[in-house]
Amino acid sequence: MAGGLKIGIFDSGLGGLTVLRELLNVSQGVEYYYLGDTARVPYGIRSKRTVIKYSLQCAQFLNKFEIDLLIVACNTASAHALETIKKNFPHLRVEGVILPAVLEVANLKPSRLGIIGTPSTIGSGIYKKLIGRFLPNSKILQKATPLLVPLVEEGLNETPLAEEVLKHYLSEWKNQIDLLVLGCTHYPLLKKTIKKLFPRWEIVNSARPLANVLKPLLDSDKDKPNRVSLFFTDRSAFLESFLTNIGIKEEIEGLEILNWEE
Ligand code: DGL
Repeated sequence: MAGGLKIGIFDSGLGGLTVLRELLNVSQGVEYYYLGDTARVPYGIRSKRTVIKYSLQCAQFLNKFEIDLLIVACNTASAHALETIKKNFPHLRVEGVILPAVLEVANLKPSRLGIIGTPSTIGSGIYKKLIGRFLPNSKILQKATPLLVPLVEEGLNETPLAEEVLKHYLSEWKNQIDLLVLGCTHYPLLKKTIKKLFPRWEIVNSARPLANVLKPLLDSDKDKPNRVSLFFTDRSAFLESFLTNIGIKEEIEGLEILNWEE
């Protein structure tokens, strides 16, 4: 693709900004349009039907910016809605976050690994199924960890509370796995706390592998800065601190809270 690449990217809330952060790290001169559906977060406790409905609305909104590429920066939406989005927007290249993470794990070939994600992503079994295809002899554990998204959305990722919740979910895996897959776009913000509690584990998230896959597309216009327009369906009390936390404030050109009708 030539210069002036336009990328639409959506998530159920703020978590997908971790994906945007990784993309910004490897891109030049790209126009990003990010939509966080903060009015309806979390998606991870909802049915497949609802996740598809919400995801199609997000794609529809971003499609108006004449984007070249649509990134589904939400694991739950990637698990349930990716194929439907592709069918509904045949002219668009659509990328999810799950396959790049799976390929990274396949490359690392752990013999024992654990996957955590929202109830909806884990319930879909998609990570376990895809990783199992590449690593049929590996032991693969998986677990839904629903309390982690609210912790991150509320900026509590490096607190004693986060440590307690992580211990509650993960202590039983302490000596059972060597690699942990963070199957949710919010979880990279918990990496430091997870590392503190379980320093031996290798950690794979879904944001960096996607950025690595797309890297060849993203630096086509080397002399220009990236431009980021942010849209949210509701104002989150933690938006400002979240943006500071992941360090994307300098690249932001506009921020709009949408008035979306159901
Ligand atoms: N961003 C979602 C994901 O990656 C997690 C938040 C939610 O449940 O909506 O699965």
